[in-house]
Amino acid sequence: MAQATTQPLLRELNRLRSLILDPDVLVKAVASGRQKGEVPTWRRAELRYVDLKAGTHLQITTYDQTQAFTENHAVGDASRDAVDALLDEPFGDWHVDTATQSHGLKVTKKLEAIVHTTDRAAPVEVARGHDKPKERLLPENDPVFLVLGISDDEGRIKPSRQSKYRQVEEFLRLLDSSIIEAIDKGHLRRPTLEEPLRIVDLGCGNAYLTFAAERYLTGVRKLPVRLTGVDVKEQSREHNSSVAAELGVDAEFVVGTIGGVSLDPAPEVVLALHACDTATDEALAQAVGWGAQLVLAAPCCHHDIAAQIRKAPTPSPYAMLTRHGILRERLADTLTDGLRASLMRLQGYRVDVVQFVESQHTPRNTMLRAVRTGGPVKGGSVRKEYDELVAAWGIHPKLAELLDA
Ligand SMILES: C[S@@+](CC[C@H](N)C(=O)[O-])C[C@H]1O[C@@H](n2cnc3c(N)ncnc32)[C@H](O)[C@@H]1O
Repeated sequence: MAQATTQPLLRELNRLRSLILDPDVLVKAVASGRQKGEVPTWRRAELRYVDLKAGTHLQITTYDQTQAFTENHAVGDASRDAVDALLDEPFGDWHVDTATQSHGLKVTKKLEAIVHTTDRAAPVEVARGHDKPKERLLPENDPVFLVLGISDDEGRIKPSRQSKYRQVEEFLRLLDSSIIEAIDKGHLRRPTLEEPLRIVDLGCGNAYLTFAAERYLTGVRKLPVRLTGVDVKEQSREHNSSVAAELGVDAEFVVGTIGGVSLDPAPEVVLALHACDTATDEALAQAVGWGAQLVLAAPCCHHDIAAQIRKAPTPSPYAMLTRHGILRERLADTLTDGLRASLMRLQGYRVDVVQFVESQHTPRNTMLRAVRTGGPVKGGSVRKEYDELVAAWGIHPKLAELLDA
């Protein structure tokens, strides 16, 4: 039986609260959406109970734009506090499944609750999952990992290569969500077998990410892609061509510099992961020149701006930020990537700067994600901020120089 009625919001949230806090009743709860004019801390939250060695816990998985974060809260005060914190967030929708019913709550503009309750045809068992390992996009035993020497003959990731595997997985998650979103929003065409998506990996090195992307997108996602890897090293081309042959992957590897390579037809997606120093600027400038629809660039070291701010007088009152070497380096990283993001915005890209891999795995964990939206470039305030910042610090970003040229 289904009924939809408008009810006072607080009363209804309280009703859901008691369902969520009962481990014998809750199957799963999901919070999502947003209330008018408000932005919750999380894009989505999922709640369910899990039986751990330490007893039953409420497992809450929260999602921001790029990542999922899972926490387990012991039943009692800890789970109550965690649930109350989520109920305080301005989510626009709650969905609570219990053993016998399904409850939907939608918050109206007037901050009332439209409640919709459905009885289950038959009660379901409240199955408590265990602490399941994170689902992998490419399993450990995928041939790509064996051929690249990341897994052993039995298809298990070698202990010494765990961080590379995690990096590949995190990268695939970002690539996947960025491509799917760009296709859904019409910023990127949906590829076909006849016309695969043209992706280039600039500064591909041993091309772990190129091969993993090919395997995942073409093999798992059924989004045909044709990958090209570019690296200045001949050894990289030789190694990668033989890996491609072994895997039966149709990919091309070119020896050349990122700034100098010419590709025809132009790539639609540009990847540049940890290309050294200003090679990231070369990659971004090439992406702009090619009119690439999607760019994912994880910068590496940032020597150029660091050297410039060492030489130029520090604008007042920022001397305390440049006095210590380590802080000066971090400031240079931030300045470099902030200026890159602004310059890409001025070129008609929507840009966000996201965390690529968790910071305990590598300090090089920032990624610039740029999507060419085709909308008009509203650059007035971005340009002004950019001009003021470079003038104040007396710096000349490499990307600006390349784009001007
Ligand atoms: C740190 S490695 C990263 C490799 C790979 N992208 C990854 O994330 O595993 C940087 C690679 O970029 C290449 N590289 C650096 N500057 C380059 C340039 N200007 N043109 C072409 N390749 C470049 C280097 O040869 C090296 O293989």
